[in-house]
Amino acid sequence: MEKELVIVLDFGGQYNQLVARRVRECNVYCEIYSYKTDISKIKKMNPKGIILTGGPNSCYEEGAPTYSKELFEMGIPVLGLCYGAQLMMHVLGGKVETAPVREYGKIEVSVNQKSPLFTDVSEKTICWMSHNDYISNVAPGFEICANTADCPVAAAQNPEQKLYAIQFHPEVLHTVEGMKMLSNFVYNVCHCSGDWKMDAFVESQIQAIREKVGNGKVLLALSGGVDSSVLAALLSRAIGKQLTCVFVDHGLLRKNEGDEVEQVFGKGGTFDLNFVRVNAQERYYKKLEGVTEPESKRKIIGEEFIRVFEEEAKKIGAVDFLAQGTIYPDVVESGLGGESAVIKSHHNVGGLPDYVDFKEIIEPLRDLFKDEVRKVGLELGLPEYLVFRQPFPGPGLGIRIIGEVTAEKVRIVQDADFIYREEIAKAGLDKEINQYFAALTNMRSVGVMGDERTYDYAVALRAVKTIDFMTAESAEIPWSVLQTVMNRIINEVKGVNRVFYDLTSKPPGTIEFE
Ligand code: XMP
Repeated sequence: MEKELVIVLDFGGQYNQLVARRVRECNVYCEIYSYKTDISKIKKMNPKGIILTGGPNSCYEEGAPTYSKELFEMGIPVLGLCYGAQLMMHVLGGKVETAPVREYGKIEVSVNQKSPLFTDVSEKTICWMSHNDYISNVAPGFEICANTADCPVAAAQNPEQKLYAIQFHPEVLHTVEGMKMLSNFVYNVCHCSGDWKMDAFVESQIQAIREKVGNGKVLLALSGGVDSSVLAALLSRAIGKQLTCVFVDHGLLRKNEGDEVEQVFGKGGTFDLNFVRVNAQERYYKKLEGVTEPESKRKIIGEEFIRVFEEEAKKIGAVDFLAQGTIYPDVVESGLGGESAVIKSHHNVGGLPDYVDFKEIIEPLRDLFKDEVRKVGLELGLPEYLVFRQPFPGPGLGIRIIGEVTAEKVRIVQDADFIYREEIAKAGLDKEINQYFAALTNMRSVGVMGDERTYDYAVALRAVKTIDFMTAESAEIPWSVLQTVMNRIINEVKGVNRVFYDLTSKPPGTIEFE
């Protein structure tokens, strides 16, 4: 059976991935493509619907991203959002120009509830607007189906041609009934059946992995992070002992983390696989001796990982497949998917390690967003603490210890971080904050404890709220929680006499300290 698909054509808007995620939340599979994608390719994919994203340009300017009229004439439903809405009007003979009043923020929109887009949506509803241009005249055949005080065309439709244009952003949570509108589009207009469900995905992937792998051997570098853990669980369910996971404990993990990973995947755990734990702590500390420069630390940690992994791979011998935990945002951000590509150096898409003797790469999570990977993890019976683990950088605590890394400093930052995480969870803030951790500054200062003078380290606490980790705000944590954390760290962690809270947003700061 052909997979039901809605495609997002990306015109460079910042919410491109969010649009696709929202469609998938409606249980409809959705992929992102650049607006430069050829029409013949789109026809071949035979999507149930097409969504055009926002973008930073003015559609009437020369050289602005556009699409041929044919896109709107295939009989496939099209929904244009913001720039996508303006472009639809522009291409089909309407008029777009600079708005006399620029709209930005939460704005009340009046909708025509008879429109299939607005079924069960309140007549007046709050939506997120962000535009300089506006549609001053709809294209022939279109009728206006929503407006605001300043925007005569907040939405327009041509139901006969199955074409819909929305000036605001239904994909962002500030648009209170946005999910309803997107769901209306995929169900009422595209007539999707909603067959994208995680339990079905798990079943079909297990089948596909078995078919692809046959009797072959698979090797996976397990980091203990969400993606590689879910991948290990999925592969284990599919092929059991044909899978070998190598878990390198570089001594820069969070407190107890190495043992937790071993408990789940090692002997006596819930998964059937070959699990190899390499305790490389001392080796890493030795390599990092005297190294203070952040990028050098990253490089050494990365290179050492390759060396350790290579040694283990040699012991295992040739394998047929190397499994990688690539997920959909990695694919999109590597420029293989949408248009607003941001290439992150620590993403490893397409880069094949040449130090392992293998024939082929398999990436069973390649189509999934992070929240979907988590759902798969829960389906497979992984514990919640693993599935909802916060992002943790590959170089680990190595980049949360400013200056030289030593075993002693690792102990301090692990213990402080453990206390911080425990108190944040106790205060019920762990689901609200996207990333939080303790770091060890390289600053030592004078303090007094009991009757004694101390000369100890300062721990810095960081907590951020972010959607995409590209920008972030420092989270507001109640003073009382911070004070409890401070008291506990100073009392329980030897070697610390001050605790700082980092207020810096990103930019100008980064989320990590190095
Ligand atoms: P920054 O510090 O760049 O972090 O604001 C953004 C996100 O990326 C993670 N991060 C890394 N992840 N290797 C990784 O695998 C790295 O070298 C690295 N540096 C930062 C960071 O934890 C945050 O989620």
